[in-house]
Amino acid sequence: MSTAPLALHRHGPASGLPLVLLHGFPLDARMWDDVVAQLPDVPVLTLDAPGFGGSPAPDDVAAAVSREPGPSLETYADAVAATLRGEGVDRAVVAGLSMGGYVALALAERHRGLLAAVGLLDTRADADGDDARANRLRMAEEAGRSGADAVAGMVDVVLGETTRAERPEVVERVRGWAAQGTPAGIAWAQRAMAARPARLSALEDLEVPGLVLRGAEDLTSTQEAAEAMARALGGGSELVVVPRAGHMSAVEDPAAVAQALRRLHASVA
Ligand code: MLT
Repeated sequence: MSTAPLALHRHGPASGLPLVLLHGFPLDARMWDDVVAQLPDVPVLTLDAPGFGGSPAPDDVAAAVSREPGPSLETYADAVAATLRGEGVDRAVVAGLSMGGYVALALAERHRGLLAAVGLLDTRADADGDDARANRLRMAEEAGRSGADAVAGMVDVVLGETTRAERPEVVERVRGWAAQGTPAGIAWAQRAMAARPARLSALEDLEVPGLVLRGAEDLTSTQEAAEAMARALGGGSELVVVPRAGHMSAVEDPAAVAQALRRLHASVA
């Protein structure tokens, strides 16, 4: 059994409290590149989700860590914890964007001793409704038939209207990343997200500092969802809204996201 089932990328200094960044769907750890570039003095670890970037196929990841039947964010969270422990990391600031945020919430529930502080970016703590769940399962099937074409249309939803109107190079970059997701990774992630429970209560007695951040033009993670997480965070929180950015705030305004992550990291490092 592997103790480090996910691909992990190290950036910055080799010692110090790490900042762990978990990416959104359907991208991979490269979505953090411009954020990481603004944090040269912070030890940053980025990981790829099962079946994305350099990580093995989801079934291999699940075989290494899973106590859960079927695709689940619990398996993904367990794989993150196992990978970090395999690298000697037993405490970290963990921040996740959207799907990465769902995994950070699962870590708060299952591996809370790992968390020195938590960042929840363009994400939410509620479960899917029936329609959203059905859409995910449809996309999972579609990915089995047509691979990454199944997510091609998502780029228009995940980027803010300002980025889409004014920054074609960012649109093309995100499109290029999304085109590289594997069918197994896309299908597994969608099934795992469809199965996730509501997890606001995981924040309530967490008692570590929190950051809640969203792009002002994010159409999928609402201000209401962000405020609910900020209120729930037992250890206090900062709520940041990034203007002119959508759901992929870390790609659309990496400087603003890096500044907020730096404050979170400095509050405990
Ligand atoms: C993401 O960016 O990770 C996705 O929007 C998550 C989701 O589909 O809920």
